[in-house]
Amino acid sequence: MSEMDQRKNAVAQSPTNRDSFGSKLGVIAAAAGSAIGLGNIWKFPYMTGENGGAAFVLVYLVCIAIIGLPVMLSEFIIGRRGQKNAIGSFKKLAPGTPWFLTGWMGVVAAFMILSFYAVVAGWCMEYVFKSVTGGFAGLSPEEIGNVFGTFTSGVVRPIFWLTVFMALTGCIVYAGIKEGIEKYSKILMPLLLVIIIVLGIRAVTLPGAGAGLEFLFKPDFSKLSAKGVLLALGHAFFSLSLGMGTMITYGSYINKRENLGATTLQVTIADTAIALLAGIAIFPAVFAFNIDPASSVGLAFITLPNVFNQMPGGMFFGFLFFLLLSVAALTSAISILEVVVAYFSEELKMTRHKATWIATTVITIIGVFCSLSLGPMSEVLFFGRNFFGVMEWTSSNLLLPLGGLFITLFIGWYWGPKRTKEELSNEGTLAVPYLSLFMFVCKYIAPLAIFIVFLHGMGWLSWLPFLK
Ligand code: TRP
Repeated sequence: MSEMDQRKNAVAQSPTNRDSFGSKLGVIAAAAGSAIGLGNIWKFPYMTGENGGAAFVLVYLVCIAIIGLPVMLSEFIIGRRGQKNAIGSFKKLAPGTPWFLTGWMGVVAAFMILSFYAVVAGWCMEYVFKSVTGGFAGLSPEEIGNVFGTFTSGVVRPIFWLTVFMALTGCIVYAGIKEGIEKYSKILMPLLLVIIIVLGIRAVTLPGAGAGLEFLFKPDFSKLSAKGVLLALGHAFFSLSLGMGTMITYGSYINKRENLGATTLQVTIADTAIALLAGIAIFPAVFAFNIDPASSVGLAFITLPNVFNQMPGGMFFGFLFFLLLSVAALTSAISILEVVVAYFSEELKMTRHKATWIATTVITIIGVFCSLSLGPMSEVLFFGRNFFGVMEWTSSNLLLPLGGLFITLFIGWYWGPKRTKEELSNEGTLAVPYLSLFMFVCKYIAPLAIFIVFLHGMGWLSWLPFLK
C-alpha cells in the first residue's frame, strides 16, 4: 500500500476511541457556541457605542476577515492533525521543540478568562431572576445604576450566581463531547437565535428606531481613532475564541471528513451575524428612548434595564435579553473549561470526571476572588488594577495576542504549505484554492497585525501621537 493509501485508510476508519463530535451540525453548533458569547452581545455593542458606531463595525468586519479567519483555521488544523488537547497537539506536531509552550499559555489563559467570564455570566443570571420577579419595576435610571453597583460589589449574591453558573458549565463538560457539549449546543444555539431575532424585531419596530440603525450602519470615519482600529482587532480575537487553544481543542474532535475551511467560514459568519444582530437589538431601542449609547460596561446592565422599563412589554423583553446573555455565556464557558479538562485528562492522565471536578472547583475559587475584588477587596491592587482587572488585562492583552501570534507563526513558518494542504484537503480529496493566500497571511500579515495589537495592549505604543 502506498503512503497515500495508508493515510486514506486511516481517514476512513477515523481514529481511536477518543470522544468526538457526531455530526457536521454538531461541530458548527459547538464552535459557534464557543465564539458567540458575552463578547458578541455585551462587549461588541458597547465597544461600538464608545468608538463611534458604523465605522468601528466596518473595521471590525475587516479584522474578522483578514485575521480572524486565518487564525481560526490554523487552530483547527493544529487540533485535528494533533488529535489532542492544546498542549498535546503541539507536542505531537512538533516534538522536541518549545512550540508546546503556546498550548501552555492557552491553558493558563483559560483559567484566567473563565474566572472573570463566569462572574459576568453570574450577573446575567441574577438579572434574569430580577426581570422575572419585577426587580426593576418603577425604578428611576439612577436607581437602576445603584442596583448594579450594590449588587456587583456585594458578597453573597454574586458568588452564589457565579457558583450556579460554574456548576452548570461543569455538568455539561462532565458529560463529554457528544453527550454533553454537542448535545447542549444543539439545543441552546437555536434558542439563542430565536431570542435575538425576537428582540431585534421588537427594537426596530419602536418609533424612532431609525437613528439607532443609522448609528450602526452609516459610517462616520471622523469618529474612528487609530485606537479604535486596534481595539477592533483585539476584540475579533476574543469574539472568535482565538489565541487560547479553544479551537485547537474543538478541532481535535472534528471528524477527518469535515471540510475545515468551510467550517471556519460558517462559524465566523455565524459569530459576526450574531454580533450585528445584537447591535440591531440594542441601538434602535437605546436611540428610541434618547439614551447615550456610549455607556461602556454598563450598557447591558444599566442602560438596557432602563430601556426595558420604558418599553411596552419591557419586562418580558428584558427577561429574554438576560436569558440570551446567559445562554450565550454558557456555551462559551463550556468551551473554555474543555481546554483545561482536555489537558488534565490527556496529559495528566486523570479521568475526565475527576478533571472536570478539579478544573471547575479551582476556576470557581479564582472567580470568587475576581468577584470580591469589585467589592470588599477592591483596595487590593496589583500594578494599579484589582484582581478582576488583572485577570482580564493579562489574558486579553498578553496571552491571547501572543497565543494567536505563535499559532499563525507555527502554521506559516514551521508546519508549511505541504502539510497544511494535506490537512485542509483531507489528504487530497478536497480542493484548496485559497492555500497560498492563507499561507501568506499566516506568514506575514497576521503575525505583524497581531504584534502591533500586542504592543498597543502592553501600552508600549502610547508615545505615538495618534494613539493617545
Ligand atoms: N468568544 C467568547 C465570547 O465572545 C468568549 C470565549 C470563549 C473566548 N472561548 C474563548 C475568548 C477563548 C477568548 C478565548 O464571549
